Amino acid sequence: MRPLRSLRTKLTFLFFAMTLAAVGVIYVYVTPRLESSLREQKLESLQGDAERWSPGIARAVEENASGRQLDRAVRRAADRTNSRVTLLVVSRGTLGLKTLPVSDSTGEVEIPDLQFGLATDSARARSTLTGGESGSEGPLGQAAVPVVNRDGDVTHVLVYSAPLSDVTANVSLIREQILIAGLLALGLSLVAGLLVSTPLTRRVQELEHGAERVAAGDFTTRFPTQHLDELGQLARALDDMQTQLAELDSARKRFIATASHELRTPIFSLAGFLELLEDEDLDDETRRHFIGQVREQVARLGQLSTSLLDLSRLEAGSLELRPEDTDVGVLARAVATEFEPALQGSESHLTLRLDGEPIEAVCDPERVAQVLRILIDNAIVHTPEGTDLVVSAGRRDGRVRLAVRDDGPGIRRDALGRIFEPFFTGNDVSGSGLGLAIARELAERMNGRLAVESIPGRTTFSLELPA
Ligand SMILES: Nc1ncnc2c1ncn2[C@@H]1O[C@H](COP(=O)(O)OP(=O)(O)OP(=O)(O)O)[C@@H](O)[C@H]1O
Ligand SMILES: [Mg+2]
Repeated sequence: MRPLRSLRTKLTFLFFAMTLAAVGVIYVYVTPRLESSLREQKLESLQGDAERWSPGIARAVEENASGRQLDRAVRRAADRTNSRVTLLVVSRGTLGLKTLPVSDSTGEVEIPDLQFGLATDSARARSTLTGGESGSEGPLGQAAVPVVNRDGDVTHVLVYSAPLSDVTANVSLIREQILIAGLLALGLSLVAGLLVSTPLTRRVQELEHGAERVAAGDFTTRFPTQHLDELGQLARALDDMQTQLAELDSARKRFIATASHELRTPIFSLAGFLELLEDEDLDDETRRHFIGQVREQVARLGQLSTSLLDLSRLEAGSLELRPEDTDVGVLARAVATEFEPALQGSESHLTLRLDGEPIEAVCDPERVAQVLRILIDNAIVHTPEGTDLVVSAGRRDGRVRLAVRDDGPGIRRDALGRIFEPFFTGNDVSGSGLGLAIARELAERMNGRLAVESIPGRTTFSLELPA
């Protein structure tokens, strides 16, 4: 896989990008806000100071105090508020309202670098204002308080100025710290991304390699299932899948081995009889006997290949069902009749019991008949001569039930669980062991159920179908 596409790169990049975004947001969004709120705070405190110290100076102005007294009052206010205080006189000329500094806490009256625009605004608005302007030593925060005389005219304005450079310095210090912390966080995010993603990718790779080994046919592979997270769950699912694949694989191998063995036996026997038949000195009686044997083996081969084909079609799901309205009672009677010739010479009796007529169901009559034939055939072949059997059909709990019961000695307990496996035979007669496997597959394909109950003297196979 290309390194850029790997999970590790993506996860590490994700960690990095998230940290970068967080640092970026703090830098771009938070710091400007911090700067403006610090500035506002400073102006507010300046305004508070101005409002507190201005009434004293205003009183001095009101009482026509001398220039020196005013200077003193202004300086005192400046000392207390830790700012520069300027007293400006307001004059109204033809060009409008103008302000002119008359006293300043620095002792200067000629102040070339400051315009005091805020003072003019405050005189015009007749209220305290805050703002700022740039002085020779950088930006200044200002608060302007109008001084009103008895007649209600604004005669003077007091301006309190304090440098904002400390705010700017603080903010740039914070910016710097954010940058350093951001770089550290980015470095840490890279390390954390690698620490988290490396074991994850390693585990994914382990699963991938395991799956590749299973795909190549190695069913001894085990997946690491000790983790409880999603990858652990995936590993458990893969492990279950591989166990099932291994079982399927061994079942398939067993099936092929048994099927080829089953096919080989009649073929060998055919070859043997053909060789014997080549003998020209054979008398007619023996020749007829051998030909009879050949016919039997050919019939067995034919039967076996049909059964194998049926079973493989059923397992592959390609066997097509043709459901139609069927009277299951009539069907059971017809199948039972097919066995009359076989039973005629023997002492066994077949009884048919139909529980009411008609017994209707929607099913594939050919396939139901096939199951019934397999069951009746077994009840005749696998029981001693003279065993009676009963074929019955009826309804139970809204389903149709067909049953074949015999009075034979029954199926051994240890064999009972295995009779539906392909090629399983009770070894008493030479069947291929495919009948019940096919019958059960057919029943399941028809959404039905094939069950067995067996005790000595009574064995019942029942097929239940949806009505
Ligand atoms: N009614 C029964 N009574 C006693 N044993 C039975 C009965 N039906 C089936 N079995 C046992 O179950 C085994 C499996 O039956 P199944 O029909 O699958 O194979 P088979 O009859 O041996 O061969 P096939 O039907 O393929 O020719 C039989 O070999 C037999 O031992
Ligand atoms: Mg059988």
